[in-house]
Amino acid sequence: MAEKKYGHFDDANREYVITDPKTPWPWINYLGNEDFFSLISNTAGGYSFYKDAKFRRITRYRYNGVPMDNGGRYFYIKDGDTVWNPGWKPCKTPLDSYECRHGMNYTRITGSKNGVEASVLFFVPLHTWAEVQKMTLKNQTEEVKTLKVFSFAEWCLWNAATDMENFQRNFSTGEVEVEGSTIYHKTEYRERRNHYAFYTVNTEIQGYDTDRESFIGLYNEFSEPEAVMEGKPRNSFAHGWSPIASHYIEVTLQPGESRDLIFLLGYVENEQDKKFSAKKVINKEKAHQLIAKFDTTEKVDAAFAELNQYWDNLLNIFTVKSGNDKLDRMVNIWNQYQCMITFCMSRSASFFESGIGRGMGFRDSNQDLVGFVHQIPTRARQRIIDIASTQFPDGGCYHQYQPLTKRGNNDIGGGFNDDPCWLIFGTVAYIKETGDFSILAEQVPFDNQPGTEVSLFEHLKISMNHVINNLGPHKLPLIGRADWNDCLNLNCFSWDPNESFQTTENKGEGSKAESLMIAGLFVVTGKDYVALCKQLAKEAMESKEGEIAGLAEEDYLTEAERMQQAVDEMNEAVKKHGWDGEWFLRAYDFFGNKIGSDENEEGKIFIESQGWCTMAGIGLEEGLCDKALDSSKKRLECEHGMVLNNPAYTTYHVEMGEISSYPEGYKENAGIFCHNNPWVIIGETVAGRGNDAWSHYTKILPSYVEEKYQTLHKVEPYVNCQMVAGKDAAKPGEGKNSWLTGTAAWMWYTVSEFILGIKPDYEGLLIDPCLPSTAKEYEVTRKFRGGEYHITVKNPSGNQKGVKQITVDGTPISGTIVPCSEGKHEVVVEM
Ligand code: GLC
Ligand code: GLC
Repeated sequence: MAEKKYGHFDDANREYVITDPKTPWPWINYLGNEDFFSLISNTAGGYSFYKDAKFRRITRYRYNGVPMDNGGRYFYIKDGDTVWNPGWKPCKTPLDSYECRHGMNYTRITGSKNGVEASVLFFVPLHTWAEVQKMTLKNQTEEVKTLKVFSFAEWCLWNAATDMENFQRNFSTGEVEVEGSTIYHKTEYRERRNHYAFYTVNTEIQGYDTDRESFIGLYNEFSEPEAVMEGKPRNSFAHGWSPIASHYIEVTLQPGESRDLIFLLGYVENEQDKKFSAKKVINKEKAHQLIAKFDTTEKVDAAFAELNQYWDNLLNIFTVKSGNDKLDRMVNIWNQYQCMITFCMSRSASFFESGIGRGMGFRDSNQDLVGFVHQIPTRARQRIIDIASTQFPDGGCYHQYQPLTKRGNNDIGGGFNDDPCWLIFGTVAYIKETGDFSILAEQVPFDNQPGTEVSLFEHLKISMNHVINNLGPHKLPLIGRADWNDCLNLNCFSWDPNESFQTTENKGEGSKAESLMIAGLFVVTGKDYVALCKQLAKEAMESKEGEIAGLAEEDYLTEAERMQQAVDEMNEAVKKHGWDGEWFLRAYDFFGNKIGSDENEEGKIFIESQGWCTMAGIGLEEGLCDKALDSSKKRLECEHGMVLNNPAYTTYHVEMGEISSYPEGYKENAGIFCHNNPWVIIGETVAGRGNDAWSHYTKILPSYVEEKYQTLHKVEPYVNCQMVAGKDAAKPGEGKNSWLTGTAAWMWYTVSEFILGIKPDYEGLLIDPCLPSTAKEYEVTRKFRGGEYHITVKNPSGNQKGVKQITVDGTPISGTIVPCSEGKHEVVVEM
């Protein structure tokens, strides 16, 4: 039987088109790219927030409710006795037609019923603290239609966490104002808050509601609000309980007539001394200005065109033409889009992340950076400084920080010993993209404490030192609380279900727990650091002052030498104590016993160390990388990708922690953690095995997956998810945790730099593809530091790796680096 399909790609419009509202899981999109953000599902479920999904939540959402995805921006259309929603939910009245188009930071949902079509375009205009909802109503019949339209939004009382728990207070605090067609949410404005939200529409209204119980009825559901069912707004005023915003509008449409209604959900902040316009009356000046910017179709259309232009510019920086639509659409559209979303959200708000639990991760945000640095280098620069400002003087890090305050917090733990290395990874990617070495001279504090500032370069140095200063008995890095694998908790020994593995006391004292993942990461980032130092030596020598970021040529050369030695030693330590015979070990536990060894009964082999040690090229000449890659293929791979470890743990191991708490085949216990598949893929390219790299890559490439199994996979077919159930799971192939995953950046890094092989480097673009033998020719256009390079890669004999000759504007160059220069260039690469 053919697999049921719920939608398809529309590449020309850069959209995914959903044609059935009953998707196997809500398929969502993100609006906004700066301060004001919204999540929107294919039935218009979701919510909005300002900067921080925890502390500044604007509309309310109920996670894990029944039915799924309850709450959102809903429009109820009452046409005679029929009440329906353009997005099908919440009434679920069968529609005559339904379509949801998720595009770049916008979503358009169109439904029709009994000859009326309602199409709603949702987006957050650039640099705007508001969500526009432009509804176009069309009468497609020969008769006059008289419709009653009700809008609906439910306010969150700002702090999304207390909103769900502190009811003894919450039920008394809600306050609103109504002025013309605008409903204001001013809860807690009387005291310490100086922000409010509003919901408006650009037409006169015939009624409204601001109190949920009056509108819906205490025992009714979203699908049957009393006011809507009776066709009569209550003009209610919320005093405490649950404030909402609903407009009531009577619309008459002549045959064939269409009409736009523009709704605007906005957020405003006032200065402390300008909070009120009269006693208890909020100062609405800024709201009025904001409303006036989007009160006509022309203004809204212009703002929408600007948003599209913004995306044209972002997506024009790197484009590929390979003749393979499935590759091109991921590279040119969706992979880059997902990277920008992870830039904005880190791991905070999705349909799997409540927006309450996690802020910006230290390691996560550094990795995400390689996905968007080519698009928004200036914002990437700021991100690096923000991240580094939360570091401690010994190089250790807060594991995460809150975006609103930019302060580190320990709520989800600290002491992960891989964290510091990621700062090198992110910073080097930034400098290679931009050539901006000045970032290294930036004065950056520790733990945000004024007066503690040192240069960013110094932060990089202490990051490297943090590894060197924390080596174990085999001269391999001590793992600390855990490494990249949050759940490999080798020093926890937790028997208490009420404590979190991430925050419980870390019994590191006397521990012999070492990580081969950090070892590989250290070699990769250590080599990067050495190369950076050498480049800095050169820059210092060539500069007028004879120094850069406060150091001279000799300083950098000495530093390069010091770190090269540490890298060489790590290399040796891995070969000596980290090789198991057919693959790399994963770790040593607290007692010094092996993890990820053939000697173990379960968890014999792990993906992370195979990925990082092969990326680092450890033992490449001796054939260790080939062996490790072959073993990964043999033991980790399945139809849906590579699992994290094999075999899965079937029981809890107190000495390993959370990893063994998961049922077999899920999450860190032998799930396909998509994030780390690219590590092995890059390892394959280091070893020159293009066919294997391609085969691993396409197994988790959404466009390939969408073709094969939409129902099984469940989650959005246009982006990667964090985890797909592995071969030991009850339902292999089922995806979870979509959108906010390091997979996005790693997939991008892998395909752009290692498969297509266009790598930014200090002096230019390094070209070194690693291809499947079926790839005979492709073109990439890459904008880079003021130049535009049209690169044609020719591979007539189907080689997997090895550049024979490069010509730039008709002239052959020596080596594989196309030097930077402004203007347009034709580059031809022969394999
Ligand atoms: C999640 C976390 C990431 C971690 C990974 C593996 O994706 O965001 O920081 O490395 O899980 O545990
Ligand atoms: C990572 C893991 C998850 C774990 C969490 C703890 O996100 O994926 O399994 O529960 O870290 O913070």
